[in-house]
Order: sequence, then structure tokens, then C-alpha cells
Amino acid sequence: MEDKVKQVAQWIVASKRVIVFSGAGLSTESGIPDFRSPGGVWDRYNPEDFYFQNFLDSEASREKYWQMATEMYEPIRIAQPNQAHLAIAELEKLGKLDCVITQNIDGLHFKAGNSEEKVIQLHGTAIFVSCLGCKKRYDRDEIQERIKAGQKAPRCGDCGGLLKPATISFGQSMPEKETEEAYHRSSLCDLFVVVGSSLVVQPAASMPLVAKRSGAKLVIINRDPTPYDDMADLVVHGQAGPTMRSILDYVKRGMGTED
Ligand code: APR
Repeated sequence: MEDKVKQVAQWIVASKRVIVFSGAGLSTESGIPDFRSPGGVWDRYNPEDFYFQNFLDSEASREKYWQMATEMYEPIRIAQPNQAHLAIAELEKLGKLDCVITQNIDGLHFKAGNSEEKVIQLHGTAIFVSCLGCKKRYDRDEIQERIKAGQKAPRCGDCGGLLKPATISFGQSMPEKETEEAYHRSSLCDLFVVVGSSLVVQPAASMPLVAKRSGAKLVIINRDPTPYDDMADLVVHGQAGPTMRSILDYVKRGMGTED
């Protein structure tokens, strides 16, 4: 394990364009369940029920969606970045981060100190709510107060449109600018580090492929095996927090910037 961590650190120090690609496994050590592990969101809910078309089709589906989203939001609302988030933010400070491409909706990369322009949120964010009609943006806590007060599927105060957390649901169009940017940067990077993702959801999961096919080295840090382990240059089946922390320590040693 130590040799693998040292190797990743050496590649980071030697690289010009490092991308970190994060999934829900990065935030489980911050108390936010992931989706596909035992006890994860899709272990408790049937993802079929939460397709975007269902949300548009019926009040009953919207109420069910908000009930699930409210339960998911609570650990996100109180979560703090863990050592993996903090290590990624420090890579940015060291000038060793091209960008973070994240599937996560929890905003913890920002709480850890990564700058807005360095984080590409492919699946939107749970921190805000948007009106599907007039696109007005609401603070999430304000809408959660309405839910607590008894509204089951809140509507926009301006246009009466449907309100939904600003996340991308299955069957919903991906954010164009972010998706293009993520593909573009994946094709230009020389090191692509996946942290905490099962790599089964498209189009996000095709980014490591784009990077690998463009000549980059691919590193996967994930507790469980992924479909891409065989094509990776290095795989660590371990906890994201301690693994990223020790990688950062070796990067700093390699750059002569130890604390
Ligand atoms: N350290 C390392 N890996 C971890 C940890 C941890 N502390 N905790 C969980 N994992 C791993 C699990 O083994 C799992 O393979 O993280 C992975 C998380 O996979 P998913 O739950 O499938 O999450 P993700 O890959 O982000 O899902 C992609 O699917 O449901 C949609 O929109 C949702 O963005 C999400 C997308």
C-alpha cells in the first residue's frame, strides 16, 4: 500500500495537469451515505421511482421525491469535509490541480477550500433549489422550512412552477457547459485520479476512459473494485481519507514543501 501511495505522489509531482474525479465514496467519511453500497441511498430507495419524467408527471411522484430528498439532505446539511477533501484542496494550493470533476452534490469540495473555477459539478448541487419554470434559484434551507411546515412538493412563489433541488436526476439533461468542460479537460490531462466512485453512471463514468485514451495515467482509489480496475495504471482498494492524506504528505515531501 505504501509503495502505491508513494507512486501516486511521484506521478502527481511529475504531472502538469492532474484531474481528481470524485464520487459519493469521497464523502462517506463525512457521514453522507453513498448510493450503491449496503445501506446506501439506492439500497433504501428504488432509483426507478426517481426518474426526472416521474417528477414531471405527477404530484404523487414529486411528493415521494421530496420525501427522499429531504432525508438525503440532512447529512449533507451538517457534513464537514474529511481529510480526502482537505488533501484535494491542498493540491490546488500547491498548484498541482488542474480541476476536480465531481459527481457529488454536497458542496464539500468548496467547504474544504477548492475554488469555484476549479470544481466542475457534473450532477449539480443539493445546496440550492431551482424552479423548473422560471429558473429562479432558492436557498435549500428556506425550502426545507416550507417542507417542515407541511408543503409536500413546493412551488415557485414567482411563477408557480415546480421546485426541485438543483441536482441532475436520472433521465434529466446533463449541464452542457460543465459536461463539455469535463470532457475537454479529461482529454488534456496527464494524470486522472478517481476517488470514491463505482464508475457505473454515464456519461460521468466515461471521463476516465477519455483521459486514458488521450494518454493520461489512470489511478483509481476506491474501497470496492470498479469495472475500470483492469485498465488503470494503479488501483488502491482503500479508504479515501487516509489514502489521500498520505498521498498529500508524499507530494509535499516530493516538492520540498513539508509542514
Ligand atoms: N473510501 C473509498 N471508497 C469508498 C468509501 C471510502 N470511504 N466509501 C464508499 N466507497 C466506494 C464504494 O465502494 C463505491 O464503489 O465509493 C463508491 C461509491 O459508488 P456509488 O455509491 O455508486 O457513488 P457514485 O459512483 O458517486 O455514483 C454515481 O450515481 O446515483 C447516481 O447521481 C448519483 O452521482 C451519483 C452517481
